[in-house]
Amino acid sequence: MASVSFLAFGLLVLACNEVLISAILHNNNTDVEVETMIMEKEELLGLFEVLDALLDDSKWAQQHPLPCTETPWPGVQCEIGDQDPPLFHVTKIHIGPDILNPPCKSSARLSDSLFKLPYLKTLSIFNCFLESNFTLSPTLFDSSSFPPLEHLALGSNPSLSGLIPPGLAKVVSLKVLTLSQNKLEGRIPREIGGLVTLEQLDLSDNSLSGEVPLEIGGLENLTILDLSWNGLEGQVPCSLGQLELLQKIDLSSNSFMGRLPSEIGKLKNLILLDLSHNSINGPVPETLSGLENLEYLIVDHNPLNTEIPKFVGSLGKLQTMSLSACGLRGPILPFSWSSLKHLSALSLDNNSLTGTVPPSLGTLESLEHLNLSNNELSGELSLPEDFINRLGKRLDVRGNNGLCTSNHLQVPVCLNRKDKALSTGKHPDDQSERIKPADDDHEHHMNESSSESEAPFLKQKLIISMSVIITVCSFLSIFLLI
Ligand SMILES: *[C@@H]1O[C@H](CO)[C@@H](O)[C@H](O)[C@H]1NC(C)=O
Ligand SMILES: *[C@@H]1O[C@H](CO)[C@@H](O)[C@H](O)[C@H]1NC(C)=O
Ligand SMILES: *[C@@H]1O[C@H](CO)[C@@H](O)[C@H](O)[C@H]1NC(C)=O
Ligand SMILES: *[C@@H]1O[C@H](CO)[C@@H](O)[C@H](O)[C@H]1NC(C)=O
Ligand SMILES: *[C@@H]1O[C@H](CO)[C@@H](O)[C@H](O)[C@H]1NC(C)=O
Ligand SMILES: *[C@@H]1O[C@H](CO)[C@@H](O)[C@H](O)[C@H]1NC(C)=O
Repeated sequence: MASVSFLAFGLLVLACNEVLISAILHNNNTDVEVETMIMEKEELLGLFEVLDALLDDSKWAQQHPLPCTETPWPGVQCEIGDQDPPLFHVTKIHIGPDILNPPCKSSARLSDSLFKLPYLKTLSIFNCFLESNFTLSPTLFDSSSFPPLEHLALGSNPSLSGLIPPGLAKVVSLKVLTLSQNKLEGRIPREIGGLVTLEQLDLSDNSLSGEVPLEIGGLENLTILDLSWNGLEGQVPCSLGQLELLQKIDLSSNSFMGRLPSEIGKLKNLILLDLSHNSINGPVPETLSGLENLEYLIVDHNPLNTEIPKFVGSLGKLQTMSLSACGLRGPILPFSWSSLKHLSALSLDNNSLTGTVPPSLGTLESLEHLNLSNNELSGELSLPEDFINRLGKRLDVRGNNGLCTSNHLQVPVCLNRKDKALSTGKHPDDQSERIKPADDDHEHHMNESSSESEAPFLKQKLIISMSVIITVCSFLSIFLLI
């Protein structure tokens, strides 16, 4: 009687297009366990087809007939739905370097059978499309029956090429879209601005080109935007200023040009702004003083060709500021650095900065890296001794022709005034010049930049020449009188 009712239950279940798998394989399960092992047949077959198109193991389905329960595989995750009886659903497929067995097949591709996984929330495939060219089909995502993915990551796939299909924007449930380190090319489709629930967009390290569509300003919940290492051009889109939740913008290593839009200054939550290795011109808008939470400002290798922007002095949370090779000119001290209490790394190397090194830099308590090399700084380096000792080799002031120091920092040792006169070719036996001891007060030396110290020499010369002229004249007049 029990077996008859069991059979009837099984038939009922099958009639509902569900598979009662546990009964086939086991005989020691309780009723509850029997029920929780039910999966929709269509969904199970869909999973088999999707994985068969990716993995180099034709026996995967045989070895994992119950991927949600008895024969799990680390790359597949399931969740119990809230139907009655409860059914397992595939919610995550992940293939990556942490899951090596079985490897991806050389002809790996994304199967259309993804449509059969209506509960799939995460699809992440790394290091899988390695050999034969694989492109994202324009129709793959372009259907209302594509699973409502929240997290799509296809990364580090050297043979994933072609365009980002505009149809991807139909997956409106996406919160995380990562397509980094592939060979994707062409433009970023403007349709992407329709993914309004997107929180993270990472298209870094591809061969994308063209301008970033203004529609990106529609991604109002975006917190992370990484478009680095592509061939993107044009201006940094001003619509980024609408994305008030942004915490990280990385546009480095592209071909962005023109000026930075002032709207960027509205991003009060921004923590990291990396614009390095582009062709962005100065001046940088002073509205960037509004980036009150910025901790990392990385702009190196851009032809800003301005003075150090003053707004950086008001970014009180700044930890790293890198403005190397930006064509910066003028003094290091257009503002007070003292408010930068958290600054730990400052790179101003490879610019054309002039004047002296402000001693106030040496009072920044968090500073651990200071690179001022390859500029046109001059005068005596008057940073506090304990600061110089603390930084050690992380203090780099090499390659500044006019700079001298009493420490061993691979710049010339400061000579006293007499020797300075010698080295600059001034009148050698000008003994009337006040000679300072080499270990004189640093602060005082700071004020005497080379251009300022020339004035006394000129005066001295003038006095000498005048006395010579007067003497000669007196001799002449005496001679004439005689
Ligand atoms: C049968 O049940 C026992 C305990 O109830 C369990 O340890 C065992 O793994 C089960 N056998 C199978 C094949 O699931
Ligand atoms: C893949 O495409 C590139 C150019 O897009 C081509 O040079 C290469 O031969 C293709 N490889 C295969 C295996 O089809
Ligand atoms: C943005 O995120 C908030 C909080 O998570 C959510 O309530 C809101 O619906 C999201 N906006 C969109 C357009 O999805
Ligand atoms: C200095 O900057 C120039 C461009 O301004 C660049 O070509 C050069 O590689 C940089 N040098 C170093 C050492 O970074
Ligand atoms: C400072 O910057 C120069 C490039 O201008 C680089 O060669 C050098 O290694 C840097 N020094 C330190 C200590 O980082
Ligand atoms: C430089 O000299 C001026 C007066 O000439 C003085 O007020 C100032 O404190 C000096 N600065 C330093 C750093 O010694």
